[in-house]
Amino acid sequence: MHTPTLTWQDDALVIVDQTRLPTEKVLVRLTSADDVFRAIRSMQVRGAPAIGIAAAFGVYLGVRDVATADRQVFLAAVDVVANRLVSARPTAVNLAWALERQRRTLSRHPQASVPELKQLLLAEAQSMIQEDNAVCLAIGRHGAELLRPGMGILTHCNAGGLGTARYGTALAPIYVAKARGIDVHVYADETRPVLQGARLTAWELKEAGVPVTLICDNMAAVVMQRGWVQAVIVGTDRVARNGDVANKIGTYGLAVLAKAHSIPFYVAAPRSSIDLAIASGAEIPIEERDPREVTEGMGRKIAPDGVHVFNPAFDVTPAELVTAFITEVGLVKPPFEQELARIMDLPGPDPKATPPL
Ligand code: MRU
Repeated sequence: MHTPTLTWQDDALVIVDQTRLPTEKVLVRLTSADDVFRAIRSMQVRGAPAIGIAAAFGVYLGVRDVATADRQVFLAAVDVVANRLVSARPTAVNLAWALERQRRTLSRHPQASVPELKQLLLAEAQSMIQEDNAVCLAIGRHGAELLRPGMGILTHCNAGGLGTARYGTALAPIYVAKARGIDVHVYADETRPVLQGARLTAWELKEAGVPVTLICDNMAAVVMQRGWVQAVIVGTDRVARNGDVANKIGTYGLAVLAKAHSIPFYVAAPRSSIDLAIASGAEIPIEERDPREVTEGMGRKIAPDGVHVFNPAFDVTPAELVTAFITEVGLVKPPFEQELARIMDLPGPDPKATPPL
């Protein structure tokens, strides 16, 4: 249960290849920044926190062989690698957050030699894994307070262990509740077109022994209408200052449905996904992906040649549809603009004081 999504082993970043699940669990060794860039872009590693951590390792991998003793030359090399990695996927702010953290790590050590700077980059990336585990488990503890035995929880895409280092964001409350003996039933949207719900969420919940029912995206309304769902919990790629939420395409529709059925709509959001620099969701760049994800689903051509396709990977849910954010420092309720700003400087969970689940 809860296999790490990414680990540092024998001088390489080892990831679970998420394009191969659920039929095969294959580990892939990434040994260069280019490997990391391609793994993020192709979604071998995916989910906002996981791609941030992968990119942090990518910076180290990209500069570990730079042969210079000159700090300025080294910092320029770091910039080149980081600027390329940040372009791998545009919507999740965790990517920029993790790279900025790497830059800050270096600037905190103005006297360090180049070999020391390289080790600092590696150590910072490794600490992000420990921190992510603590953050996700804290989200899990706060979110578990919302859960009661027998509840039905609807989720979308994969904001589980596979989208983070290990424990997930939207699924963490479910794992923590299970560890406390509170069993809930999860409805997992399949999440067209890339099917993260079917391939990943259904797989990881089954592995963890959590009861799960897989539904097509267009079945969410009927499970709500039948009274099977008492809460929706989703993850996020970026939360704007006003509380607008970018998450996997289809999330907005779910939020509208939840409101129509008076079902609370929660967004599990580590603070690394909160972007106070942008005022609203209108400023969040939305990735558009290859039309073939839509026209060649299910391993075969399912649309006529040349048809026009619209394939945004994410949408923006307006803040007024969000009941609360579940963060590592507690639930955040409206007014979001004020409350999101308030929580950003609170002390986070201590990784050293967080036992594994
Ligand atoms: O395109 P993906 O699969 O990377 O999209 C992932 C999501 O939308 C998740 O909900 C989000 O990144 C949070 S993962 C903990």
